[in-house]
Order: sequence, then C-alpha cells, then structure tokens
Amino acid sequence: MKHSHGSIEIITGSMFSGKTEELIRRLRRARIARQSIQVFKPVIDNRYASEKVKSHAGTEFEATPVARAAEVLPLVRPDTTVVALDEAQFFEPEIAEVCRALAARGVRVIVAGLDQDFRGEPFGSMPQLVSLAEHVDKLHAICAVCGNEASRTQRLINGEPAQYDDPVVVVGASELYEARCREHHLVPRRPTPSTSQPPALQPAQPGQPEMLAGVLISEAQLQARIRELGDAISRDYAGRSVLLLCILRGGVLFLTDLMRQLSVLHTLDFMAISSYDPGVRRSSGQVRIALDVSQNIEGQHVLVIEDIVDTGHTIAAVLDLLATRRPASLKICTLLDKAERREVQVPIDYVGFTIPNHFVVGYGLDVDEYYRNLPYIGVVKEGFVFHP
Ligand code: IMP
Repeated sequence: MKHSHGSIEIITGSMFSGKTEELIRRLRRARIARQSIQVFKPVIDNRYASEKVKSHAGTEFEATPVARAAEVLPLVRPDTTVVALDEAQFFEPEIAEVCRALAARGVRVIVAGLDQDFRGEPFGSMPQLVSLAEHVDKLHAICAVCGNEASRTQRLINGEPAQYDDPVVVVGASELYEARCREHHLVPRRPTPSTSQPPALQPAQPGQPEMLAGVLISEAQLQARIRELGDAISRDYAGRSVLLLCILRGGVLFLTDLMRQLSVLHTLDFMAISSYDPGVRRSSGQVRIALDVSQNIEGQHVLVIEDIVDTGHTIAAVLDLLATRRPASLKICTLLDKAERREVQVPIDYVGFTIPNHFVVGYGLDVDEYYRNLPYIGVVKEGFVFHP
C-alpha cells in the first residue's frame, strides 16, 4: 500500500497495554509494503537497547534516540514515507509541530505513548497529539488486582501506592509499575479536583481576627490549587526559562508558594503599583508605578504574578507598559479573580480562584496594609474600620 497522503495515527493506553507491540506490527506491515521507515524515541527511555524500540513481549525494531523533539525533522530523509515515534509522552510540546509538519509533507506518522502518568493525569503532549490525529487507538491492559480491563498505570514504591506528590525518582526505594482499572488505581494525597469555582464562605472560627465575616478559601484549598497551577505552568513553559514578575506587595506569598511548585527554570523580579487612594478600598483607576522592574525584559518569557484582579485597571496598565519592552511572551497568573467587577477586559492565563464581589484579606492581601500574614483568604465584615 503506497501512502501518498500524510496522516497522524496514535497508539495510546496504559503501561503493558501493548502499544509498542502494536507499533512494531504496523511497522513490519509497512516494511512488507516496501515503505521507507524511520523510528525515533526520546533518549530518556533507555529501558532497553538504546538503538531499538522493544516491547514488553520482546519484539523489537531499530530506532534513533533523540534528545529533543526539534532533532527529529532534520534527521528525516527525503525518501522516508513512514515516521514512527515511541514513548512520545516524553517529548517536549514541539513534538506536535514536528508531527504536523511531517504529515503536511505527505509522511505517515505513527505515534505511540502513554496517555496518562501514574497519577492518572494527561501525560506530556499526548492530549494535543490525539487532537491532531486522524486515527486514535486506545489499548487496554489487564488490571493486576481484579483482571478487568485496565486503563491506568499504578506506581508502587516499596509495595505501597505512590502518593500524588512523590518525586519522579525516589532514591533507594524499590519501584514498580502495574496496570490497573479505574477502581483499583490508587493515588493517595491527590489534590481536590480543579477548585477554581467560587468556594463557599465558612463562618469565622474563635481565635480568628474579629474583622472577619468568614473564611472564603482555606489554607489547604489554597495550597492544593497552587500545586495545580504550578503543574500547569511547568507543563506550558517546559524547556524554557521564565521570569516571574511579582506585583508587590500582595503577590508575595503567592509567588513564594507557587515557585516551589515549579519544575521549570525561573528567575524573579518585582514591580510595585499603587492604585488605591489612601483609606479607600477600591481601585482609583489611576495607576502609579512605585517600583519598576530591575532588568531589561526584552526577549524574556514574562509571567506576571498578581494577588487579585478586580476592576482590571492595574493589570491592564502593567501589561501595556511591559508590552512596550518587547518580551518574548507576556502572560498573567492571578491567585484571585473578581471577574464580575471587571471594567477593563484583560486576558488572564492562569486563575487560582474566581471569587464573588467581597473585600477579601489574607495570604498577601491587606486591609489598610494589615493582616497580609493570614494563611487563608478571609472576607472582611461590611463597614469594618481598622484602628490598630
Ligand atoms: P484593580 O485595578 O481594580 O484590578 O485592583 C487590583 C488591586 O486592588 C490588587 O492588586 C489589590 O492590591 C487590590 N484589591 C482589589 N480587590 C481587593 C480585595 O478584595 N482585597 C484586598 N485588595 C484588593
């Protein structure tokens, strides 16, 4: 069979579902059809012989290990009609563009990779590749516990299910993986699922400051969401360095917790903006730069870290100013978004929580410059006047 039209096929599923075996089966058929084949795999996967892809069942096919997705295109020969990628979940996001370019050139691209990591979260660029593909086959393994169809990969450390936030390498531990069904796939300490919905107000507890009407976001909810944001940012900036530009003073606590959840290289800088008239709890719309960034941001990937976006005047002014300095990219990450109060439309890339129209305090946010140290986000009582 001659392939004159390019296409992308995906073979995905959990570990032990037979993805590599299926990939090799398709490659053998392509070879019988006298297609010219090249196979690539990420260097990170050196489980088996490094110049081969090899299935758990023992079948194998020659492969070229590459350190980066960008190395693939220059290595593809002009007469190659079939390109296969194994363990594609380990490639950087650029792999999607590589596959698209090959398919556009008439190449049949066959991609095998895990769709979920051991935590059951989407793995690397696989979701994006699935959406670009003409054909997707999801294979299943057998659950090691009940024998039903398995769609997930269970990670065990010293015989116990690995926790959600366990590091990828645990030194000195004995690790193994097995296939499991949804019911028997265990991930202890999984953060609460996406919590960007407005949380419910909990009554203030004895011992909490008197000015509080209640607690809107608990410390545990904040930290779980910040972990999710850290993961998303690390995924999006993989392979690049990012400048975290924190807006003082409210963004400081958020910055220090967020940066500890990042696995990408990053540097820090700060800006201070004042937009409130003294004693007034709403933005004046008149934004003043009290402290400017200490460096030239031209060509850098800048991620602005804000505590809260309310009317949007402050962040819009910051963006306008920074855009004139020609960063490579400019995005916003805010812990809180009072979306219903917006007066200026600004694109926000990462939002911790969308909250209703309350005046909130704590976790970096102040009421008349006080209470920034509270580890949770509280709501200030209506009409509260501060007398330190
Ligand atoms: P905007 O210009 O109206 O979007 O205001 C943004 C700034 O107002 C934030 O950076 C905060 O410093 C402050 N702000 C807005 N809402 C609150 C709040 O509920 N509590 C404390 N500060 C707030």
